[in-house]
Amino acid sequence: MSMTFEDCARVRPGFPRPFPDTPSNVMEQFQMKGKVVAVTGAADGLGHAISQAMAEAGAHVALWYNSNNVAIEKAQDLEKQHGVKASAYKVDVSDSTQVSETIAKVVKDFGKIDVFVANAGMAISKPILEQSLDEYRKQMSVNVDGIVYCSKYAGEVFARQGYGNLIITSSMSAHIVNAPTDQPVYNATKAYVTHFGKSLAREWREFARVNIVSPGFFDTKMGASPQTVHEAYRMSSLGRQGHVKEIKGLYLYLASDASTYMTGSDVIIDGGYVLP
Ligand SMILES: NC(=O)c1ccc[n+]([C@@H]2O[C@H](COP(=O)([O-])OP(=O)(O)OC[C@H]3O[C@@H](n4cnc5c(N)ncnc54)[C@H](OP(=O)(O)O)[C@@H]3O)[C@@H](O)[C@H]2O)c1
Repeated sequence: MSMTFEDCARVRPGFPRPFPDTPSNVMEQFQMKGKVVAVTGAADGLGHAISQAMAEAGAHVALWYNSNNVAIEKAQDLEKQHGVKASAYKVDVSDSTQVSETIAKVVKDFGKIDVFVANAGMAISKPILEQSLDEYRKQMSVNVDGIVYCSKYAGEVFARQGYGNLIITSSMSAHIVNAPTDQPVYNATKAYVTHFGKSLAREWREFARVNIVSPGFFDTKMGASPQTVHEAYRMSSLGRQGHVKEIKGLYLYLASDASTYMTGSDVIIDGGYVLP
């Protein structure tokens, strides 16, 4: 039952909350100088573009990688090019101990975490009737457990600090069932993390913002496969995959003070793929 006008008229102590003490100039709102951002899956693809965006805007960056140690060199390049601090950390996000220890190490090295971008993911794209249970568990361990572990341990830091910002890379596959590739497990892992992120936005409302990015096909190792790429071009209203540089602005917006009124949102960036 909805509230009566009398109920609505009652002043609730502490409300309205004050507006944030942030710049009104929009270019200043996008400034990340002095902020610390951790990005998983940062060696290549979307994660590296996100790391570049943060460093270009002045943030210090912790680049997490699993197997691709080019992240070490790329961190050094970001330091040289942008005069920020950048370090690479080898961590398997499906291992909770590694995740909690690496988060503690980032805090020790950088002093705090302002933004955590839980971006690492993987896919073994097969119909469930052809998928082994090990393949199912592998996808769950990286795409679901990995996001849960990163969120839980980053969230503990945010709660202690009294501020924080979590951005989860989900997928348009959380919204649609991909065709012609049947990949129910991957799709479901992404639906999980989207709703998990929205739920955290409420749980953490006193100290942190949480938002979700749902990309369509981007031209990375996890982009459209050679067998399906022409269908990806046909389905996308813009007739192509995204270039990684085209996702940088969205993550910077969500990471920065330009988006202080945004939490619990799920932003689809897909060249119009899910429109029809
Ligand atoms: N490209 C697309 O079309 C698209 C569309 C929708 C959603 N996404 C999502 O975007 C995210 C980034 O993918 P991408 O397109 O940039 O592809 P990518 O270049 O292959 O990136 C995936 C990243 O995940 C990391 N990773 C995989 N397993 C890991 C583990 N166990 N522990 C830690 N890191 C692990 C990889 O690290 P290493 O290389 O160091 O092993 C890699 O950097 C993923 O979550 C993906 O599901 C991509």
